[in-house]
Amino acid sequence: MEYRFSARMGKLSGNATREILKLIKRGGIISFAGGLPAGDMLPSAELAAVTAEILNSPRVKEVMQYDVTEGAPETRAEIAEYLGGFGVRNIGADDVQIVSGGQQGIDLACRALLDKGDYALVENPTYLAALQIVASCEAEAIGVKAAAGGLDLNDLEDKIKKYNPKLLYVVPTFSNPTGGSYSADNRKRIAELTARYGVVVVEDDPYAKLRFTGEAVPSIKSTDKAGNVIYLTSFSKIVSPGMRIGAACAAPDLLRRMTVCKQGIDVHTNSLSVAVIGEFLKRGIIARHVEKVLPIYKKKQKLIVECLDRYMPACYRHTDPEGGLFIWGRFEGAKIDTQTLLPEAIETCKAAYVQGNVFYADDSGHDCLRLNFSNPSETDIERGIKGLGSFFKKKI
Ligand SMILES: Cc1ncc(COP(=O)(O)O)c(C=O)c1O
Repeated sequence: MEYRFSARMGKLSGNATREILKLIKRGGIISFAGGLPAGDMLPSAELAAVTAEILNSPRVKEVMQYDVTEGAPETRAEIAEYLGGFGVRNIGADDVQIVSGGQQGIDLACRALLDKGDYALVENPTYLAALQIVASCEAEAIGVKAAAGGLDLNDLEDKIKKYNPKLLYVVPTFSNPTGGSYSADNRKRIAELTARYGVVVVEDDPYAKLRFTGEAVPSIKSTDKAGNVIYLTSFSKIVSPGMRIGAACAAPDLLRRMTVCKQGIDVHTNSLSVAVIGEFLKRGIIARHVEKVLPIYKKKQKLIVECLDRYMPACYRHTDPEGGLFIWGRFEGAKIDTQTLLPEAIETCKAAYVQGNVFYADDSGHDCLRLNFSNPSETDIERGIKGLGSFFKKKI
């Protein structure tokens, strides 16, 4: 049978990290590739207790039935309060749409705004699934240059004028892939500039709670006067990615369109997970859990930095993130193509990374790689980076 696939599938290839994860799942590979929280640090006991409590209470009838697309109002009210901690204030349950992971929030925003042939600006490099989502809307992602402390604002303005984009997608805190963050001033100026030109900002902020050094910086949404910022949060990195719970907060018109899009996709997010997250927030379980994981991630980040400095070739430069799950590096001036070398690296070092180019709207960054430090054990970090270091030294 010759299948007649949609035109929108034309530009889509498999997400590189998802493909690598399949390889790694076969076992025996040290993975620096996924964006996974530490497996042994998931709050399993609390999840089991709260889930059992809900299922053994009269609420079981609610959580096992259909719900409204927005998600349970009690959990949305808890999330609205929680978002105050990110500077998203004066909101209530009606300003929140629960989504099936932050990634669905990106998808809903893009579906609500992008038509075929439209442009979306993204930081270069950016979260690769966002590139995939923009492509699935048959729109084009245009990379904006990064600068010290955030986006290059001149380049942003030039590209807004040149492309008339409908949206700008950014991960301003502990970005995926670089681990970098935008300064408070850069955020404020992004909000002003985009408002001036009528561009919607999709501020994707799943890592903000994972800060182990430095001072918290207010979100772009906290400076949003025009109502042009869609704020996305997620509980994947701070509770469990398998639960698939995130939330979007935006001006009523924007949020309503996103809700309508969601109606046609999955009706509503899994009600049991929504109820559990609501209870976790109400009882302060998330805040306590984050306190518990932060010192562990901090230690692993320090260790990976030490190992990279010790084992990687001299031309390798890396970031030194103050939080999040990723560290980003580049082989400066060397003829290294991390994409071509990945299968051989996995085969010989039994360690996997993600090649840099997949995070670029223009397929540059072949000399870069992204490493996750939260999921591998300390022993594996040492062993894996040592292996990758000697592998790359031989390739230079
Ligand atoms: C920047 C960014 N946004 C969204 C997601 C997706 O997260 P979720 O599991 O909440 O869909 C990730 C996951 O890696 C991410 O890094």
